[in-house]
Amino acid sequence: MTALPIYPLTEEHKMLRDAARDFAQKEIAPIAAEFDESGEFPHATIKKMGGLGFMGIEVPEEYGGAGMDTLAYVLALEEICKVDASHGVIMSVNNSLYCHGILQFGTEEQKKKFVIPIASGKAIGAYALTEPQSGSDAGALKSRATRDGDFYVLNGRKSWVTSGPVANYFVVFMMTDPAKKQKGVSAFLVDGDTPGLIRGKKEPKLGIRASATSELIFEDCRISAENRLGKEGEGFKVAMTVLDAGRIGIATQALGIAESAYEAARQYAGQREAFGQPIGAFQGTGFKIADMKTRIEASRLLLYNAAIAKENSKQSGGRYSLEASMAKLFASETAMFVTHQAVQIHGGMGYSKELPIERYFRDAKITEIYEGTSEIQRLVISRSELGLK
Ligand code: CAA
Repeated sequence: MTALPIYPLTEEHKMLRDAARDFAQKEIAPIAAEFDESGEFPHATIKKMGGLGFMGIEVPEEYGGAGMDTLAYVLALEEICKVDASHGVIMSVNNSLYCHGILQFGTEEQKKKFVIPIASGKAIGAYALTEPQSGSDAGALKSRATRDGDFYVLNGRKSWVTSGPVANYFVVFMMTDPAKKQKGVSAFLVDGDTPGLIRGKKEPKLGIRASATSELIFEDCRISAENRLGKEGEGFKVAMTVLDAGRIGIATQALGIAESAYEAARQYAGQREAFGQPIGAFQGTGFKIADMKTRIEASRLLLYNAAIAKENSKQSGGRYSLEASMAKLFASETAMFVTHQAVQIHGGMGYSKELPIERYFRDAKITEIYEGTSEIQRLVISRSELGLK
């Protein structure tokens, strides 16, 4: 029904959350099924979200953003994801994987050139780390960036790049010194129009079908050395720092999907009758509702806690990897659990494309995979708890 009122929200939080809810209901809900079916990128609604300030919520106003805190970002993203996870991941990548890293590691010139267009909603950003042979083992990159005077020459392939087919700017990670392994990775900011940057085929996907995902191929792609983000060899740290922020975004996406699937199942369980009573009155269904609700609220607490830890880290400079990984792990597994139960409670109607339940189920799966699988989150959490890293 409603969130437990544990985190007191400011008036600003509530206004942003309500604006995002209103936009999602009025503009995204009517088109979500159609864009899921066609797999078309929703350019028009994404542009409007940019106009409303949703693409750079934590970005300071001087760099084109809304200048709000992490909890504000989470609250707005949650409302978008309740209606459509595809719009949600595009928003999350722009905010977290793209803007966050440049704000933390970029120069003043880089922030002006590469953050303002994205945060103000005029352009789309993307993050290219994964390669065909390196997903979870993110430091095992084969792509090479070779210094040539005032330039770097980029060669290699990147896989599974969210917004790859449509992005205007990319944060790209490549090896500058393979002998140093993770310490030989560097990060670069690349304009999508740079010669030698080729967009590979768009991936056909099970879920989040309206978000566009592709390979990127770099063939002697020459960029100015001024576009290196952070120091040479600092790229792995940049990639991991950014993923901590990204994982809060994916936890939010998972929570939003779970909430909508739950609410539909709750209503259906109260209305649908079998054997002379609402199916929710049977303990088999009622207990499902109880478990779904409890896991959703536990996810919310972990997520909002991670958002506050991230906000605090802006002052302390400390890491919030543990909080972000626990939130992502629990919320994504909750999204899978809840959407699975929601399909089951709806029976045949849950399997039909007449209702969005099957879309929630398909969309939920990716949250256990991208920006670090559940296995990687367990690795991060266990290493932290055991003091192994
Ligand atoms: N913040 C800052 N620094 C970090 C860090 C973090 N969160 N995590 C690790 N580091 C640092 C470590 O401190 C260490 O530095 P020092 O040597 O100076 O101490 C260095 O990075 C290496 O760390 P590890 O030894 O822990 O590295 P590892 O090789 O064991 O890997 C890992 C750690 C957690 C498994 C990491 O590889 C990982 O997160 N893998 C998953 C990658 C991932 O999430 N990919 C998704 C890509 S994006 C995507 O999904 C597509 C999209 O568009 C949405």
